[in-house]
Amino acid sequence: LKKIAVLTSGGDAPGMNAAIRAVVRSALAEGLEVYGIYDGYLGLYTNKIEKLNRYSVSDIITKGGTFLGSARFPAFKKPEVRAKCAEILRSHGIDALVVIGGDGSYTGAKLLTEEHGFPCIGLPGTIDNDIPGTDYTIGYQTALETAVDAIDRLRDTSSSHHRISIVEIMGRHCSDLTVSAAIAGGCEYAIVPEVNFSKEELIQQIERSFQDGKHHALIVITELITDVHQLAKDIEARVGNETRATVLGHVQRGGSPCAFDRILASRMGAYAVELLLKGEKGRCVGIQREELVHHDIIEAIDKMRRPFKAELLEVSKKLF
Ligand code: F6P
Repeated sequence: LKKIAVLTSGGDAPGMNAAIRAVVRSALAEGLEVYGIYDGYLGLYTNKIEKLNRYSVSDIITKGGTFLGSARFPAFKKPEVRAKCAEILRSHGIDALVVIGGDGSYTGAKLLTEEHGFPCIGLPGTIDNDIPGTDYTIGYQTALETAVDAIDRLRDTSSSHHRISIVEIMGRHCSDLTVSAAIAGGCEYAIVPEVNFSKEELIQQIERSFQDGKHHALIVITELITDVHQLAKDIEARVGNETRATVLGHVQRGGSPCAFDRILASRMGAYAVELLLKGEKGRCVGIQREELVHHDIIEAIDKMRRPFKAELLEVSKKLF
């Protein structure tokens, strides 16, 4: 192994820079050359590749986003596109690749390994915490802090105005961000993708609690469940209190990574290089019960399920 490359792909996440830095510096320490691929698989396809040195990654551990840029590149699903990408990697003399991203990015990495014998290692980079084979993804804790900070601010204004606030949180089909934000933000209601949503039940619960003397309420809900602006209108019409909906959106994807994400990303980046040096390929890195682990990428995506944290939801319900 002489030359490795690193790319970030899919939605960016705070801590990706720390992961790139760790890959670059631990590879250089082992005497390897490192290349940065800009804008994910799209940049690989268009040959946006540059050699990196230790100063290329100076001062980035504190920065959100990814200095390499990221992209969603659906064309990578085509075998001929992947073949061209493998050829480009080989034309630079690159003999292994570290991919930092979500499960779509993982699938791309595995296919490069399977179809072209190209050694790839995946690192879990997404705020959603929805990747199997790891307890935490890079970026999740920072996004959680951002969501809780927003909820705290909404609590102030919703309390002053005796309003009901609905906060829509990212996470796709995974409730981790929503439920944890609900507990930390002391929210009254958490609506998550893993549990069937009944608008009627929610409204009845709110009606009862306002009849019992409640003056304001905070509802957190994962994206893609319902139109939160319509939900606000429906609640207001029935309960009588003014109701506002706030979609936190991409605010949750930005910002300086928290210490947890910086450390996680640094450990995972260094581990990826270790695995490549041991000859591992088609593997994805995780952290489980505080230990760094690695799994076959396809097995992780197809067979491992991230458990729904029902216990957290129960705690959030108990404490409101
Ligand atoms: O996967 C990360 C994520 O932020 C999801 O939470 C969200 O559904 C999606 O990406 C948004 O994607 P985009 O940035 O392409 O709009």
